Amino acid sequence: MSEIGDTTTPVLVVIPTYNERDTLGGVIERLLETVPAAHVLVVDDGSPDGTGELADELAADDERVHVLHRTEKAGLGAAYIAGFRWGLARQYATLVEMDADGSHAPEDLPRVLAALQGADLVLGSRYVPGGRVVNWPKRRQLLSRGGNLYSRLALGVSIRDITAGFRAYRASVLEKLPLDDIASQGYCFQIDLAWRTVRSGFTVAEVPITFTERELGQSKMSKDIVLEAVLQVGRWGLRRRGEQVSGLLRRLKR
Ligand code: GDD
Ligand code: MN
Repeated sequence: MSEIGDTTTPVLVVIPTYNERDTLGGVIERLLETVPAAHVLVVDDGSPDGTGELADELAADDERVHVLHRTEKAGLGAAYIAGFRWGLARQYATLVEMDADGSHAPEDLPRVLAALQGADLVLGSRYVPGGRVVNWPKRRQLLSRGGNLYSRLALGVSIRDITAGFRAYRASVLEKLPLDDIASQGYCFQIDLAWRTVRSGFTVAEVPITFTERELGQSKMSKDIVLEAVLQVGRWGLRRRGEQVSGLLRRLKR
């Protein structure tokens, strides 16, 4: 097998979908043109708009495309975990996360994969020099910036775009993380995994990407998703502080 990050390494791009019929085909086409050696796994949660059937048609036309059908909408986190398990069971060396709505440019993937030669997890980042966000309403930008600042402060990590949804993991990272224990459902799943990756001693790199707001379909962001993230990150932050304090007390007693 060739080196990690090399485009000939078996790469699996996991694309979770819920009602993404208008954009999925174009994203997969651009992706396979940019990285012909990649395979794609669409994880569809029974989209009422027929995204799952479209994915089946794409898979019938191209052996690099695979589909995992799930019966109900169970959140981004559960969809990715199912996709990762599928990929790990099939020995892919690299597992990529990407949105189906065109916000993540497949043309940026080679740079993300190249950076995996020097890190265990690479984030396609909007908030490092060179990174950009196009067409996001002010409200969404504030939420994302605020979420990142809050996470940095609570968790004490230096990652600039910890909620990034365009990322590449070495399989060894996902093999080590306790996928069974990860309960994060919404976008806090992204924070959860990055945080666990750091805590397990793996290295994280960020490469700049341009995130472009979708033109078709709808975001699945909701109040519940925001609330889950605020509460969970707060809890993890408190636990971290607690561990720091008990560590300090242990050292003082000695
Ligand atoms: N299977 C499945 N089940 N897919 C889902 C679900 C779900 O419950 N919820 C969302 N998705 C899929 C969407 O169909 C899309 O392909 C991708 O996950 C991202 O969802 P969007 O709803 O487009 O996310 P966004 O644009 O609001 O949010 C972006 O920014 C977040 C915060 O920075 C994404 O890049 C997120 O990944 C990111 O965390
Ligand atoms: Mn989106």
